[in-house]
Amino acid sequence: MTEMKKVSDMEPNEIKEEVRKAYTQVADIDVGCGCEPAVQTSSSCCGDSSSAKVTRVNLADALGYDTEGMPISATESFAGCGNPVALASLKEGEVVLDLGSGAGLDMFVASKKVGDTGKVIGVDMTPAMIEKAKKNAEELGITNVDFRFGDIEDMPVDDNSVDVVISNCVINLAPSKAKVFQEVYRVLKPGGRVMVSDIVLSKPLPKEVSDEVITYTGCIGGAILDEEYLQHMRDAGFEDARITSKAGESLYGAYSAYIAGSKSE
Ligand SMILES: C[S@@+](CC[C@H](N)C(=O)[O-])C[C@H]1O[C@@H](n2cnc3c(N)ncnc32)[C@H](O)[C@@H]1O
Repeated sequence: MTEMKKVSDMEPNEIKEEVRKAYTQVADIDVGCGCEPAVQTSSSCCGDSSSAKVTRVNLADALGYDTEGMPISATESFAGCGNPVALASLKEGEVVLDLGSGAGLDMFVASKKVGDTGKVIGVDMTPAMIEKAKKNAEELGITNVDFRFGDIEDMPVDDNSVDVVISNCVINLAPSKAKVFQEVYRVLKPGGRVMVSDIVLSKPLPKEVSDEVITYTGCIGGAILDEEYLQHMRDAGFEDARITSKAGESLYGAYSAYIAGSKSE
């Protein structure tokens, strides 16, 4: 039997390739698993495509999304661990950036809030997710959205051009959280803000857990301690970085948190 490679022996690009493979399956509603084990430990959605689909739609409902009128393809690939748009206090005319926008659900909810005078940009590194999100936007007739293929550690977004950065269960998947927050700070306008939901840890993970690829792509293995996460934000310039609320504790002390910060004027 061939031994699985350990995450700690992989280069950042190899890790990202594993993440891309996992989320191509989530986009295709194939066998495969996204972040669900991190947020819904009792459900099993990793082995069978129809149960995965139902689980993700139910997850969006449970997190308070108004999915009325949304095509099923906008929710069946949902892989978030919170509802950041509900807490981001978006206003008409704002420019919003969604890191790791997946099939687009958060972008579509945000697009209603910012209206025609605003815009929502989504960055994702999985081509199948970008394609799916574009099709969903067409089906919904939403035009104030802009899908960009790219890496959140080096984003195709201009300096000082965004009012609000949102993200849902993505930054834990990035090998360098430091680079992500430097990028978030760079693209925000002075006075801009960030509101993300993400998985963080209350205690270090056992090494055998953080070394498993499936645990990493399932949003637990790449999670870091909550204090370390906030420190990366502070180092990037977010002096007021804070956890605004917590959802329940999940496996191994991993929990879903809402995390906020702002760039000074
Ligand atoms: C857990 S899913 C969340 C998707 C979406 N935010 C949602 O709530 O349904 C993670 C998404 O982030 C994307 N992603 C992960 N790492 C990324 C990176 N370094 N740069 C850009 N996108 C990334 C994946 O392709 C995937 O679509």
